[in-house]
Amino acid sequence: MILPITIYSDDILRQKAKPLKGVDAETEELIGYMFESMHNASGIGLAAPQVGRSLRLLVLDVSCLDNYSEVKPMVVINPHVVAVQGFNSMEEGCLSIPGVQGDVERPAAISLKYRDEHFAERSGEFSGMLARVLQHEIDHLDGKLFVDRMERRDRRKIQKELDLLSAGIVTAKYPVVGRSE
Ligand code: NI
Repeated sequence: MILPITIYSDDILRQKAKPLKGVDAETEELIGYMFESMHNASGIGLAAPQVGRSLRLLVLDVSCLDNYSEVKPMVVINPHVVAVQGFNSMEEGCLSIPGVQGDVERPAAISLKYRDEHFAERSGEFSGMLARVLQHEIDHLDGKLFVDRMERRDRRKIQKELDLLSAGIVTAKYPVVGRSE
């Protein structure tokens, strides 16, 4: 089932999402729907608040990108970044902010502890695009969006687009839900 994506002005995108206590049948179903919805929208990462669920759960699949075709899709639950290394700047976009891109500086590599789709404890070191997507999606679990991290000068250039999204004027090639208030 394809779930509609919550858009910029939706309150749920500003909430701190709740940790999961386990993975039950309902969670498994949600994970499946999240992959389906992400692929349908040509996204490479999707966090549960983006489909209206305030849970610390995200999915990612970067296998469509050059040099990442061997990387398996990931389910990441209750993630904790335990260490970071370096910094770089990359252009980001977000399915919840359609039509907007901008440069964001973030740590270049991260050490992560998390639970997988079986709720088993995992840890890993991630760099390159995986570090980038993971940090973007983990931000979603803390109510943060990439535009919050853009330099003020760059942010001013996209303010008009953000205002349109806030006003509920959304153009996207996938189903969306607008304001919640
Ligand atoms: Ni996003």
